[in-house]
Amino acid sequence: MDIRAIEQAYRRYARFYDVCFGAVFQPGRRAIVETMDCAPGERILEVGVGTGLSLPLYPRSARVVGIDISRHMLDQARLRLVRGGLANVAELMVMDAENMAFEDDSFDKVVAMYVASVVPDPKRLVDEMRRVCKPGGRIFMVNHFHSRNPVLGGFERLLAPLSKQLGFRPDFSLDRFLGATGLDARSLRPVNLFDFSTLVEARNDKQSAAEVPAPAFVAS
Ligand SMILES: C[S@@+](CC[C@H](N)C(=O)[O-])C[C@H]1O[C@@H](n2cnc3c(N)ncnc32)[C@H](O)[C@@H]1O
Repeated sequence: MDIRAIEQAYRRYARFYDVCFGAVFQPGRRAIVETMDCAPGERILEVGVGTGLSLPLYPRSARVVGIDISRHMLDQARLRLVRGGLANVAELMVMDAENMAFEDDSFDKVVAMYVASVVPDPKRLVDEMRRVCKPGGRIFMVNHFHSRNPVLGGFERLLAPLSKQLGFRPDFSLDRFLGATGLDARSLRPVNLFDFSTLVEARNDKQSAAEVPAPAFVAS
């Protein structure tokens, strides 16, 4: 995966993204925004906001900034803002989530929905999410991780060489992701139809991987 391949993939997806990936992954978006429990005035950053399918879910009192590497995906998000009159969205910006222009400790909560398996370097993504999140702030992710089901998992492994064309890694391992990033995951919860995705909730303790306790797995 590289940035150019990702931009190209999402330029192709932008116009029909909502039809293919809207309703089917909306329970995960809804669950993560509910878990975030945004308080009035909190500064929220959503990285890889895409076409903005999550934006109507945030409370009107929140202040949401969305970034994405794909101008074409953000164009769709901007249309959604105008149509929905979403005044809680402060800004939508073209920006690389692995190299953000924000100052350290800028946001109370930072969230990535279906992005971790898309970016070129997931560790770099998490490092940046931590950097721009306040110490003690919260980091949230929802993603599909490599299936433990032998049939589905085998199929995902077969698709792995097509990652560039697909625009995501089908065989993205949760254990390797948590191990490599040292993300202080406090809970892992299955979401979406057939528990297809996992909601990860973490505290921004800025600890090293070695100090991080094992997360609790909450059954659906
Ligand atoms: C699978 S889509 C998810 C979009 C949205 N979060 C959702 O819930 O539908 C992945 C998004 O991540 C964006 N993306 C990929 N790599 C990125 C990067 N390095 N920086 C910012 N956005 C990125 C893509 O352009 C795309 O919009």
